[in-house]
Amino acid sequence: AGAAAAGIGSADFTPVAPNVRDNVTVPRGYTYEVLVRWGDPVTADAPAFDAFAQTPASAERQFGYNCDYVGVVPLTAGSAVLVANNEYTDEELMFPAGVYDDATVKRIAIASHGMSVVQIERGRKPGSWKRSNHRGARLNRRITANTPFLVDGPAAGTERLRTSADPSGKNVLGTFANCAGGTTPWGTILSGEENFNGYFDKSGTLDSRYAASYARYGLAGDGRGWSDVDERFDLTAEPHEPFRFGYIVEVDPLEPRSTPRKHSMLGRFKHEGANATIARDGRAVVYMGDDERGDYIYKFVSAEKYDPRDTQAARKHNLTLLSRGTLYVARFTDEAADAAPEYDGLGEWIALASDTESFVDGMSVVDVLVDTRLAADKVGPTKMDRPEDIEPNPVNGRVYCALTNNSDRGKKYPADEANPLTSSMVRSELGAPLTSASGNRNGYVLEVTPDAGDHTSTAFTWGLMLVCGDPEAPETYFAGYPKEQVSPVSCPDNVAFDALGNLWISTDGNSLGSNDGLFRVPVAGAERGKVEQFLTVPVGAETCGPLVSEDQLSVFAAVQHPGETDGASFDQPSSTWPHTDSFPRPSVIVAYES
Ligand code: FEO
Ligand code: CA
Ligand code: CA
Ligand code: CA
Repeated sequence: AGAAAAGIGSADFTPVAPNVRDNVTVPRGYTYEVLVRWGDPVTADAPAFDAFAQTPASAERQFGYNCDYVGVVPLTAGSAVLVANNEYTDEELMFPAGVYDDATVKRIAIASHGMSVVQIERGRKPGSWKRSNHRGARLNRRITANTPFLVDGPAAGTERLRTSADPSGKNVLGTFANCAGGTTPWGTILSGEENFNGYFDKSGTLDSRYAASYARYGLAGDGRGWSDVDERFDLTAEPHEPFRFGYIVEVDPLEPRSTPRKHSMLGRFKHEGANATIARDGRAVVYMGDDERGDYIYKFVSAEKYDPRDTQAARKHNLTLLSRGTLYVARFTDEAADAAPEYDGLGEWIALASDTESFVDGMSVVDVLVDTRLAADKVGPTKMDRPEDIEPNPVNGRVYCALTNNSDRGKKYPADEANPLTSSMVRSELGAPLTSASGNRNGYVLEVTPDAGDHTSTAFTWGLMLVCGDPEAPETYFAGYPKEQVSPVSCPDNVAFDALGNLWISTDGNSLGSNDGLFRVPVAGAERGKVEQFLTVPVGAETCGPLVSEDQLSVFAAVQHPGETDGASFDQPSSTWPHTDSFPRPSVIVAYES
């Protein structure tokens, strides 16, 4: 606790100023290092990276593209295993013109998706980390869009999940569009399959039996052309293949030969991520967001209790926790929860299904778990402004959700108390009348307080802790903290906590004109709401996967899609970060006191 109290959670750093530099910028007195880049060898048989001689076989042995979530599971005092999502590929930034044929590009892209597992160890300086052995460390592993997964939970093996290649309906190849995630109390990694709909093509008409489902999930057959190299990505040929994606996957990083699983019990939607905590009665509770304009916030409560013992039997038991339980969706109401002049109210978790019983009229348990959005639509949850990462704060027990933005609020979706800003209305609940209502362009951070501090409770109170944006804009709100003393923050995406319970927010799509970044915000005491920018990322990049180490000496983050700007290409890049090559390379970094 002594070391933690002295660490980054309480450090008095000078916030980084907003900028558009093609670099990572950290406060004076800090430094950062690149831990692992796209293309770096992961498995023992991986070749060195050569952007001009990439092959599918090399890509599936090297660190994948566009790292997003970052989880770090300690092994010993000096070593750990790092797991990163590789959400998607930017082909125009990955391949020089005129070198690769179209089919090879697609096969390399398939191998560059998924997740990467890399062992790391402490470096020479406190807070620094480096890769172990550089390649082929014992736990190193690549999971790609072709790696075998096992479906578990009530939907495993059901008709909707069967395909011509997999009549069992349980053995799915691969994961992709893995956005955020979480590290469970039992040491596994959860990862959300988010924009999976964008990976399926069509060669003819779509199966009319699934018209409502396809429409609700945005499955229009306008994919990435992967069906040219693997027919399962053709909806016309394989109408069930998309029902095998859109899940929370669980990977055990300590068992490199284990088969990762897809948890149907946690529902199927555009899963941003998933964060688990242990409720007072011992059950596991998982919070999840469905990142789409007007979609919902969910939680899962396990049937069985977590076993905290450090034994093989306990570990085996805990790996079953996400297979049985109850899935809920959130409704936010605008009755005042307290007298403060804030956006706040009451809320309830509405049960959708348990592993044995559906609570939605006309839908079976399997229907609810496969068409979760359609099930939720029937019970009146609140349509939110793109729920991204949602995570319980281990210090105060409240739950924090990034609502990144919503260009359709006020148009397709009427404003409500939890989603107040629209492009057309002016409100004065924050104490100051709005002079220029810009809509929800900059996002919110929602704070949820479970009833009696019990994560299994179906009742909660909520408030918008942050209304993000330019502090000079009248609609912004920083939990009441003086606006002239906060860093501008826009489009929160991922949230994390340090050992003192401070909230860390990474951003994606800054609407204020500067690069994305990472911010620290106290949630309690006199400095509640004091947003301070800790780092910025290079041109075109988003900041992902922030993680503050338990000892508070290290801040890990993923720099995703550097150089992803209009018209940029491998040959004419807008970023060359991390400046080791003539083109950008998405990478995981670690920042620490220098
Ligand atoms: Fe992949 Fe919702 O950000
Ligand atoms: Ca995200
Ligand atoms: Ca995002
Ligand atoms: Ca998080």
